[in-house]
Amino acid sequence: MAHHPGDPPTADQARFEEQILESWQRHAAAWTQAIREDRIESRRLVTNRAILEAVWSRAPRSALDLGCGEGWLTHRLAGHGIDALGTDAVPALIEAAKTRGKGRFQLASYDAIAKGAIQERFDVAIANFSLLGQQGVEDLFQAVPALLTPRGALIVQTMHPVLCRGDLPYADGWRPGSWDGIPGDFSDPAPWFFRTIASWIRLFVRNGFAITDIREPLHPNTFRPAAILFIGARISPLAPPHPPRQR
Ligand SMILES: C[S@@+](CC[C@H](N)C(=O)[O-])C[C@H]1O[C@@H](n2cnc3c(N)ncnc32)[C@H](O)[C@@H]1O
Repeated sequence: MAHHPGDPPTADQARFEEQILESWQRHAAAWTQAIREDRIESRRLVTNRAILEAVWSRAPRSALDLGCGEGWLTHRLAGHGIDALGTDAVPALIEAAKTRGKGRFQLASYDAIAKGAIQERFDVAIANFSLLGQQGVEDLFQAVPALLTPRGALIVQTMHPVLCRGDLPYADGWRPGSWDGIPGDFSDPAPWFFRTIASWIRLFVRNGFAITDIREPLHPNTFRPAAILFIGARISPLAPPHPPRQR
């Protein structure tokens, strides 16, 4: 059955969203180790630099790192003098983040953020490989404009839909998970929600963003994109339509 934005989630979809968080809870230690030992080749060679360059392109003074994991990006930004807040739903990751580096950290799921858990505004909100679900991500997108300064932007880096679809159709939908390319003690991956490029763009536009750039950073050995990045600038709410002319 087709599921349209705005429809209430089905029981299966709600369960998939829970499985994503359960999986990150189980893998918090393995993930922290993989990142801190720089084990993921695509991050080392391509995507860490890509997200940093995208952030620098907005010259922000403040940044919100959504789904910050063990905190490397928040640490890096705070180390450059940016007032950076990292948020994640997994307590063990937030605790790991607080043990090193600069930056502020807050335990907050996307659901909690959508319900108002953060009461500040930032020049950029960033989601680096952290938008994995469906409804939770859509609710978060709705909430992000209110978390941005008037010239603020949302930057999303994610797997490239054209290259990660495998043999499945190029269409939005839940997919079985995989830890391919992530060495370490990882098992039992959670499902994740695949979005086409058009669907990502629609998500930005529907929530009041103008896409100002789409980047496809290339892997230096394969010459294929290692990821896709979207930069969406917040646009002011549209002026109400002109009142009907008096005749
Ligand atoms: C692949 S990791 C990326 C972590 C970090 N952004 C990085 O670049 O290293 C995905 C992160 O998204 C977080 N996440 C997934 N779903 C979430 C949700 N609903 N609310 C908050 N965090 C979530 C996970 O806990 C995990 O830390």
